[in-house]
Amino acid sequence: MKSLAIFLLASLASAAVAPYGQCGGRGYSGDTSCQSGWVCQYQNSYYSQCVAGSGTTSTTTTATTTSSSTTTSKTSTTLATTTKTTTTSVATSTVFPGTSGLNFTIDGKAGYFAGSNSYWIGFLTNNDDVDLVLDHMNESGLRILRVWGFNDVNTVPSSGTVYYQLLQNGVATINTGADGLQRLDYVVASAEKHNVKLIINFVNNWSDYGGMAAYVTAFGGSQTSWYTNEAAQAAYRTYIKTVIARYSSSSAIFAWELANEPRCNGCNPSVIYDWVKSTSAYIKSLDSKHLVCIGDEGFGLDTLSDGSYPYTYGEGLNFTMNLAIDDIDFGTFHLYPSSWGTTNDWGNGWVESHGAACAAAGKPCLFEEYGVTSDHCAVEAPWQATALNTKGVSADLYWQYGDTLSYGQSPDDGNTFYYGTDEFTCLVTDHVAAIGYLETSVHISYGQ
Ligand SMILES: *[C@@H]1O[C@H](CO)[C@@H](O)[C@H](O)[C@H]1NC(C)=O
Ligand SMILES: *[C@@H]1O[C@H](CO)[C@@H](O)[C@H](O)[C@H]1NC(C)=O
Ligand SMILES: *[C@@H]1O[C@H](CO)[C@@H](O)[C@H](O)[C@H]1NC(C)=O
Ligand SMILES: *[C@@H]1O[C@H](CO)[C@@H](O)[C@H](O)[C@H]1NC(C)=O
Repeated sequence: MKSLAIFLLASLASAAVAPYGQCGGRGYSGDTSCQSGWVCQYQNSYYSQCVAGSGTTSTTTTATTTSSSTTTSKTSTTLATTTKTTTTSVATSTVFPGTSGLNFTIDGKAGYFAGSNSYWIGFLTNNDDVDLVLDHMNESGLRILRVWGFNDVNTVPSSGTVYYQLLQNGVATINTGADGLQRLDYVVASAEKHNVKLIINFVNNWSDYGGMAAYVTAFGGSQTSWYTNEAAQAAYRTYIKTVIARYSSSSAIFAWELANEPRCNGCNPSVIYDWVKSTSAYIKSLDSKHLVCIGDEGFGLDTLSDGSYPYTYGEGLNFTMNLAIDDIDFGTFHLYPSSWGTTNDWGNGWVESHGAACAAAGKPCLFEEYGVTSDHCAVEAPWQATALNTKGVSADLYWQYGDTLSYGQSPDDGNTFYYGTDEFTCLVTDHVAAIGYLETSVHISYGQ
């Protein structure tokens, strides 16, 4: 980013653009500052224009970066357009995300939205890295980011390692310090600033970042009895209450999410159903203004089922039954054919079956996670197109977002693709263009 900053300073010193002249946009390489008394206003991703303004500074810079990767011997040319506008006319939205029939609404506009996942953003210790990601997301048209709202440990980690909750010997201690929830505070504040909406979840089924296993270590029982273990549930609710209290008035929260991929292998679906019903009611009692979802993979479904493993009920989930719960505002489903023994192409039917189930329930579906380890564009672009064309599916979030941070590349669990790469162009830029809101809704919401 250093070279970009220098470029920005250089452009500030150059001659100013006359009233109503172009001052930015994709592919534009001319002057980017307006004459005194005029500000550069974003019109659409291809065009920014100098309009009469209150004399605040405004800059728009377009930089072309050519980067080559030595490890993969693949060279990629990236056109990155960074627009920074400091004007009083860019107001942070105060409208809460919602649903309207089978659509999600953001900033009061109903439609289809693109987004991504980042499990790690709330564990970063450098504010600039958080801002960089959310700035890139907004600029690219990624409107929703799902983040881990949990980070449970059984012993205090070494200094400098972020954790949110210590679960030890039957006692839960929430870390609200600078290496605790204050890191999540910064993500929420940055999301507010950059107009990105967050999904925050409260516990992991898997043991990454603690999860249900960390509760089991502290309170006993097992992963399957976690859903009914009184001590574990009491700690889980206290944690939920603490997190919600911090952000209940924030319009940057898209939804509260019960868990990441809850499963209860071999259990009657009533176990998870009862837990979803009581927990979602508890969340609504604390905060009725925000949406609530489950965060499940979408298992257990008869609609358009081909009888393959993900459609079965063995993991203790019944998609239709859980979605019917009043306090659950929308359905969630994930897609990982390589982990489920299905083909990539099978994924299109998986998307359609959930859309149909959501349409029948009268609630939108969020295609919340999908990923592959190679051939991202060839495999994931068709899934995106299917989602966009399926009634009942109103947003998708790929797994997972990657970017170049102050210390190097953000974590890659195998499914990551990075900002500025060819994969980003086909799965974000092209997808957002196909959705079309960057040229319409966002334009309106950033108008005077
Ligand atoms: C939902 O969004 C779609 C576009 O994605 C639009 O065609 C439809 O009219 C919207 N419905 C409502 C109720 O806003
Ligand atoms: C979001 O990105 C657009 C460019 O796509 C820019 O004009 C706008 O100022 C950005 N908004 C925020 C809040 O950063
Ligand atoms: C997640 O759920 C599955 C199914 O119940 C279970 O086998 C697995 O152990 C769980 N993960 C953890 C870390 O408990
Ligand atoms: C799943 O839930 C639906 C709707 O409540 C119900 O009709 C169906 O019998 C359930 N299936 C199983 C296997 O639990």
